[in-house]
Amino acid sequence: MKDFWNDRYGRAEYAYGKEPNVFFKEQLDLLQPGKILLPAEGEGRNAVYAAEKGWQASAYDWSENAYKKAMQLAEEKKVKIDYQICSLADLDFEPESFDTLALIYVHFPNAIRTMNFERLTSYLKPGGSIILEGFSPNHLKYQAKQPSVGGPKSDDFLYSIEDMKLHFDGYRFKTLKQEVISLEEGDCHVGQTEVVRMHAVKP
Ligand SMILES: C[S@@+](CC[C@H](N)C(=O)[O-])C[C@H]1O[C@@H](n2cnc3c(N)ncnc32)[C@H](O)[C@@H]1O
Repeated sequence: MKDFWNDRYGRAEYAYGKEPNVFFKEQLDLLQPGKILLPAEGEGRNAVYAAEKGWQASAYDWSENAYKKAMQLAEEKKVKIDYQICSLADLDFEPESFDTLALIYVHFPNAIRTMNFERLTSYLKPGGSIILEGFSPNHLKYQAKQPSVGGPKSDDFLYSIEDMKLHFDGYRFKTLKQEVISLEEGDCHVGQTEVVRMHAVKP
């Protein structure tokens, strides 16, 4: 699977573009800059945007090519980001040390989802925000009609509002919705689909 991502990022073009995800940008712009953690951050579009806005951005991804592209983008935009080539299990941040956690198209399969969300939210301060956008279970219908929209091919990886309520029980939901949107992110997320969008505040 790591080879798949290295191949995807091995081109000059940015798979999901150089601009931040629309929902991420909209929600981040509502917050005061602080420390932000961006798991599975790929080519750095969201981390670089956060850094441009004054955030201290820490990102990771297991793909070496993702790292190279993210560093290239940071240089282009003249910002610094902290970016580790690793997986979740390798992280060694202080507990409750981040103000915001950004999960943009970070799709964990059901079997490890609870464990991974718990580990990631352990790094979030009480009162800190999670900004999440991911494909909903209805995504597969859209993907069948328009493969250019990308995303997981199995419903084991997809997120519903009910899943989010279960995983983030006790959080305050500033936004939690499933909606049909038109994605225009590079050449790997192009077309109409349904997503879950969440901005939740840790108790
Ligand atoms: C759909 S891309 C999203 C990238 C980025 N969040 C964005 O929105 O542009 C999913 C990313 O997850 C990363 N990834 C998948 N499994 C991983 C793992 N076990 N450890 C670290 N990164 C992983 C891939 O390399 C890929 O960059």
